[in-house]
Amino acid sequence: MKDKPTLWITRKLSTNTEARASRDYNVILNPTDILSSAEDIIAMSAKVDAIIPCHSEQFTARVAASLDDRLKIVANHSVGVDHCDLTALKARGITVTNTPDVLSDATAEIAMLLLLGAARHAVDGDSLVRSGQWDSWSPSFMVGTQVSGKRLGIVGMGKVGQVMAKRGRGFDMTIHYHNRSRLPADLECGATYHDTLESLLNVSDFLSLHCPSTDTTRDIINQKTLAQLPDGAILVNTARGALVDETALINAISSGKLAAAGIDCFKTEPLGNPQFSAHKNIFTLPHIGSATLETRDAMGFRALDNLDAFFNGGEPKDKLV
Ligand code: DGY
Repeated sequence: MKDKPTLWITRKLSTNTEARASRDYNVILNPTDILSSAEDIIAMSAKVDAIIPCHSEQFTARVAASLDDRLKIVANHSVGVDHCDLTALKARGITVTNTPDVLSDATAEIAMLLLLGAARHAVDGDSLVRSGQWDSWSPSFMVGTQVSGKRLGIVGMGKVGQVMAKRGRGFDMTIHYHNRSRLPADLECGATYHDTLESLLNVSDFLSLHCPSTDTTRDIINQKTLAQLPDGAILVNTARGALVDETALINAISSGKLAAAGIDCFKTEPLGNPQFSAHKNIFTLPHIGSATLETRDAMGFRALDNLDAFFNGGEPKDKLV
């Protein structure tokens, strides 16, 4: 790079990421970590050549149309890009990248945590002990759902789905999956492919979502699809809140159709869904699937690798448009 490009990092990223960015770019950081509005993004685009945003910043069609010509690349610090209107950004000639692969382990770990916690009354058990109200024990107390020997259905067998399958196998679960296309045998590792979602749902004692949020996948978990699960199934969502009709989820929990759910992603973020709080068999976390020190560094470095390639005249590895 001849002259250092100017880079805006919209949120507070890992110390190592910010140090590397400060070394290689004229960087504008956000030490207070305050969320930027659409107007902030539009105004800043006149001052910078590149932005590293997170999934919390919205690059809608309106924002894309209003961005200054100076901005050349949006190098996302996320694998999901549903916060970006890719068509509108492409129309403006702006390159967009993401950070696949590097958050698969961390996200699958949170999915397993939610799966186990939902199956074994983590919320109820923790609040009972924590509140000092645990005053009896019996063999019929807090009996949950055993994980080993059960069928784990995975929707979306990309990188995160594949790690989730591996973790499920570690718990002696049988793996089933639905994906746009069947994986080669070396990646499938004995998992059973279902060419329709319905077929997968019918056999999923546990269902874990690992597909992106698109027009096709919005609300794929709804009243109809929940009814196709076995009675007493458990749903896990670490992908995106947009995939689940939350009213249908509450109805399925209330009726007992679902034994429990583990949810890291919500329709409304931040906040979640206050109605979930009435149900101790919904184990919730605040969208922290990728939130480990190791993964935050890896995501930041991957976004910077993409920027470096772009400003050195090459093709970023994770170029989407
Ligand atoms: C992602 O990378 O998409 C995660 O949801 C965190 O932003």
